[in-house]
Amino acid sequence: GKGEFDHYMLKEITEQPTSIAQTIEGRYDPRRGSVSFDACEPETFADIDRVVLAACGTSYHAALYGAIVLRRAGVDADAILANEFGVSAPPIDDRTLVVAVTQSGETADTLGALRAASRAGATTLAVTNVIGSSAAREADEQLFIRAGPEIGVAATKTFSSQAIVLTLLADRIATASTGTSTLPIGDICADVDRLPSLVEELLDGSAAESVARRYRGERAFFFIGRGLGYPVALEGALKFKEITYEHAEGFAAGELKHGPLALVTPETPVVAIFTGTEDEKTLKNAEEAATRGAPIVAVCPDGHDALSIADAHLSIPDVHPMLSGLLATVQLQLVSYHAANLLDREIDKPRNLAKSVTVE
Ligand code: F6R
Repeated sequence: GKGEFDHYMLKEITEQPTSIAQTIEGRYDPRRGSVSFDACEPETFADIDRVVLAACGTSYHAALYGAIVLRRAGVDADAILANEFGVSAPPIDDRTLVVAVTQSGETADTLGALRAASRAGATTLAVTNVIGSSAAREADEQLFIRAGPEIGVAATKTFSSQAIVLTLLADRIATASTGTSTLPIGDICADVDRLPSLVEELLDGSAAESVARRYRGERAFFFIGRGLGYPVALEGALKFKEITYEHAEGFAAGELKHGPLALVTPETPVVAIFTGTEDEKTLKNAEEAATRGAPIVAVCPDGHDALSIADAHLSIPDVHPMLSGLLATVQLQLVSYHAANLLDREIDKPRNLAKSVTVE
């Protein structure tokens, strides 16, 4: 049950220190700085020269996150919407690994992509939360995110666990397929270990609640980020729109000036996510919005330069840039939750949506 919580969503956001700890348990060795999974032997990836991640919704945002980390690790990787896979998949052959990222393991679009990938001769891997799910049964290999059951329709704790598994997987694939990984996995893993306690620090939620209160009733809400901050911006906007029913959109920070800036006014708060890579550019992009009168909500560590133009601050701990997006996501989950709560929305069962989408 929900226990002391009014909603499953808040319970599941709050569970993240534990779900993350379960996700990483036994999967990396901080002393040797190496990753291992009980499934997915390194040989699985030895002949892989390209990775395609297919997913929908929040899982697609985790897949985008994973693709960026894979590319930083030196692996040719792309994320594609599973529902676009049939019409626009990149070339796939027996040296391609297709990763289906799906919390439920039952999303019809994602299963469709998985089956098409198998037919094309790819090695397939399911990254899922549900043991025995269709995706887990049908894929050649499985990696379980071990986040525990998620009841709220809005995916929360499973996003962080997916992103972490994909980060660890990136190092594994790079090492197995190219012999080296350009990822500083030792540094990353040292901080992965701190994630549960860092997330715990964010859960007080009072800053998120006051942001939700302060901007209640505005015309639209935009989220911008760069690099790993981009999937985080997309996810921040998806969560916000699906449970508040307010207009929210995520953009790559650098894209703002290529069109979306026309929407920016004093009535459109811009949530700017700073993940520690090229932050000065993202700050310039946020400044362009601030010049048009938009209030800027900066998601960044304390003492960050962005605070000079920020109307409000959602603090995230200083952590390896490969992981700070995860912490930013927790803050954005809390903002969406509180905004929806203030509007009295049906948070755990938003209108028109289902937890598991079994039609194409
Ligand atoms: C958003 C959400 C959906 C799912 C999507 C994929 O909060 O929950 O966007 O992420 O329907 O579901 P899975 O991961 O089960 O394939």
